[in-house]
Amino acid sequence: MSGPRTWRGKVFIGVSLDGYIARSDGGIEWLSDPPDDPGHVPGHRGPNPPAGYEDFMVTVDHLVIGRGTYEKVLTFGFWPYGAKQVVVLSTTLARDHDERVAVARNLPEVLGVLDDGAAKGVYVDGGRVIQEFLRADLIDELIISIAPVLLGGGLPLFGRLASDMRLTHKGTSTSDTGMTSIRYIVTR
Ligand SMILES: NC(=O)c1ccc[n+]([C@@H]2O[C@H](COP(=O)([O-])OP(=O)(O)OC[C@H]3O[C@@H](n4cnc5c(N)ncnc54)[C@H](OP(=O)(O)O)[C@@H]3O)[C@@H](O)[C@H]2O)c1
Repeated sequence: MSGPRTWRGKVFIGVSLDGYIARSDGGIEWLSDPPDDPGHVPGHRGPNPPAGYEDFMVTVDHLVIGRGTYEKVLTFGFWPYGAKQVVVLSTTLARDHDERVAVARNLPEVLGVLDDGAAKGVYVDGGRVIQEFLRADLIDELIISIAPVLLGGGLPLFGRLASDMRLTHKGTSTSDTGMTSIRYIVTR
């Protein structure tokens, strides 16, 4: 980066109550097709409720995703990111693999692409990539949607940090499907 960071790093992700973003085999059906359980308390929007996906996407112009997330997205059968610039972190993908994305080999290369694109809002997605961005202090806000399920294992959302990271709670909402969405900003 040539100067002070000009963009905000944002996480918007679904997670099991025990902290996994996918099963070990990458499965996320527990998130996209939760069982229909009429017993959840009715959803409510608290003060300053977190944005939903569509409203959140309006606030970002770039995405940085890991190869694991990229390969999952390819199975969807449609490209969910429209014209937003997508950077895929990967040491293995060929650089000319897919004209819809820029492949970056490491964090400095990602920062170069974001700089060149005059990024303002950056959606950071994928467990390992989120962990790396947190360690590098490149995340400013998080919207975490907790699904009412314990998976007992899988790919974790969070990992090791050099020191505690304090968060400020900005709002919570719940849905009829038992999801609890919490918005935090990183306290600085
Ligand atoms: N619950 C949700 O809302 C949610 C959201 C997003 C994703 N997911 C799921 O999470 C799974 C993927 O998560 P994940 O934690 O395995 O992976 P990820 O962060 O998406 O991707 C990990 C890969 O990114 C590359 N990478 C990461 N850091 C790098 C670095 N510093 N330099 C170079 N390359 C780097 C590596 O690819 P190479 O091996 O090519 O180097 C690594 O194997 C998928 O199953 C996806 O469906 C769930």
